[in-house]
Amino acid sequence: EFHEHPRKAGFSFTGPFGHYDRAQLQRGFQVYTEVCSACHSLHQVAFRSLSDLGYNEAEIKAIAKARQVPSIDPNTGEAATREGMPADKFPLVYPNEVAARAANNNAIPPDLSLIAKARHDGANYVYSLLTGYQAQPAELLRKFPDSKTGEGLHYNPYFANLNLAMAPPLTAEGQVTYGEGQPRPTVDQMAKDVSAFLMWAAEPKMEARKSTGIAVVIFLIFATVLAYMSYQNIWANKE
Ligand code: HEM
Repeated sequence: EFHEHPRKAGFSFTGPFGHYDRAQLQRGFQVYTEVCSACHSLHQVAFRSLSDLGYNEAEIKAIAKARQVPSIDPNTGEAATREGMPADKFPLVYPNEVAARAANNNAIPPDLSLIAKARHDGANYVYSLLTGYQAQPAELLRKFPDSKTGEGLHYNPYFANLNLAMAPPLTAEGQVTYGEGQPRPTVDQMAKDVSAFLMWAAEPKMEARKSTGIAVVIFLIFATVLAYMSYQNIWANKE
């Protein structure tokens, strides 16, 4: 009863005619890069996929180049790193689970590539989680005194077990500086933008899926009318 269903953020991509807002996806990518990528990887996404967001080839090359990806030293055969290329995927943040836990109070920051699909009502969930931190309700403590939020944990009614190891990552307006002509980077706006970006990461072909769905429905209506008319014709009592 204390676990809450995600709030609606009012995304442009909801509904059967929904579309991604490219400028929003770019802002969301900026929030991911500057804030979330310190702890969360995006390991299923290749840099070149960012062309969907409207970046050109040179921009994508620069984005890839700014990141180090795993490779092998050609001389020694030892593990090494090199600058990223467009075909590479976003690198992992931590070398292994132990390192990830050691840096995060024994919790693991999950890879965010598919989080918007892995969780019910994913984009709204991420948005609600990011903007949903609050004090633990007194009523909850009264009912279940043992449920007191532990040390290093943070109460959030949108997280399945109510207490999560991630401190609020978005806390102040202007934490990320948006470009000219973009909305004010309030916490709410940044949360919305990064959630939209993560929806794109999880489902880059959503628009194609939806427009195919529309075409299919239109065709089925047409086929139904045609079938009905031929039925009438075949069974018409012609002399
Ligand atoms: C968990 C998103 C920044 C550390 C989560 C979850 C989401 C998320 C959606 C919950 C996953 C689930 O449902 O299982 C984000 C976004 C960020 C961000 C969008 C940027 C705006 C960070 C940062 C850190 C961090 C900067 C580290 C300092 C963690 C950890 C967990 C987590 C440790 C696991 C919590 C637990 O299992 O109790 N994050 N995160 N996150 N995040 Fe973040």
